[in-house]
Amino acid sequence: MTSGIRFDAVTVAYGGTTVLDRLDLTVEPGEVMALLGPSGSGKTTALRAVAGFVRPVSGRVLIGDRDVTGLPPYRRGIGMVVQQYALFPHLRVEANVAFGLKAQKVPKAEIPGRVAEALEMTGMAAYAHRYPRELSGGQQQRVAIARALAIRPKVLLLDEPLSALDAQLRSGMLAELARLHRELPDVSLLYVTHDQVEALTLADRIAVMDKARLQDCGTPQDLYRRPRTEFTASFVGNANLLPVTVGVDGVVLDGTELKVSTEGISGPVLGAAATLCVRPHLVGLGDGPNALKGRVREVQWRGSTHRLYVEVGGHRVKADVRELRETPPLGTEVTLHFAPEDAVLLGAGVSDG
Ligand SMILES: Nc1ncnc2c1ncn2[C@@H]1O[C@H](COP(=O)(O)OP(=O)(O)O)[C@@H](O)[C@H]1O
Ligand SMILES: [Mg+2]
Repeated sequence: MTSGIRFDAVTVAYGGTTVLDRLDLTVEPGEVMALLGPSGSGKTTALRAVAGFVRPVSGRVLIGDRDVTGLPPYRRGIGMVVQQYALFPHLRVEANVAFGLKAQKVPKAEIPGRVAEALEMTGMAAYAHRYPRELSGGQQQRVAIARALAIRPKVLLLDEPLSALDAQLRSGMLAELARLHRELPDVSLLYVTHDQVEALTLADRIAVMDKARLQDCGTPQDLYRRPRTEFTASFVGNANLLPVTVGVDGVVLDGTELKVSTEGISGPVLGAAATLCVRPHLVGLGDGPNALKGRVREVQWRGSTHRLYVEVGGHRVKADVRELRETPPLGTEVTLHFAPEDAVLLGAGVSDG
């Protein structure tokens, strides 16, 4: 059985302060949705509203076609994994994993099989008799995932599950989570993170949150290539954001005309202020279309690339170029360029289309 999650104008407030403002969002059955945003943007609150740990002041939460807004957590059929593994220290791994099954009144005879199955899926079968303190952080998090999966949830909620782990372990666990989801294709995943790499890697779609509000939602490629707001552009990937005015056949930056696709611009917006977004890796060094002259202010070697900071007019433009044989001395005048199709126009008069 499959079932998705639907937030229908969900608003949550603490002591009169709105921390989640009319969230409308649908997670399709079997979909991996990442909730991405800075600390304090309301991600955990949204997750807790699905789990039933926080009661919205208005709006509804649906799982499948069932309105669960008034249901207690244990009746929602949800698995949840949080950052701090939250295992019971006095219980062995197998008892930790069995815990949710007992709470759900699964027949006693079925429990050992279900525990073994969940531990098998997370690669922890050999550790069933250990106590949490005898496991590494990564292993503890696997047990927490096994415990969440043991109840065979239709919806799995993960709240920054990897942020307590070191970088190398994190990328391994990310691959594991992707594999687990392939094995459980019917389970809907809501994955909270402030890490854009996790969101880009794992998610079918990303919901971008800021200041208690949903700012944007789309596939990773969509948000990266066609961000609709400055916030999305700078939070999902790196961005040059340049203040421009809309011209007849492109835009004007400090008197220089630049060709960009004006597709998606609606209405009479000639002369309107807008923001031009160009990804640093799409800025080239040397002459080309949309040439911009400037002076090198900083050069950073990043292994396979060089990051140049170039002062163009009053703006700092970042360019990530293939590793240079010779780096330009600071103060050198250089020319940068970008292809018209690699720029995205944001702001005034720009339609969603
Ligand atoms: N139990 C609570 N009581 C009061 N304020 C809270 C509580 N939980 C969270 N908040 C506030 O709600 C806002 C959103 O928090 P949260 O959803 O945890 O954000 P995120 O997970 O995106 O970091 C923050 O300003 C936070 O301080
Ligand atoms: Mg949080």
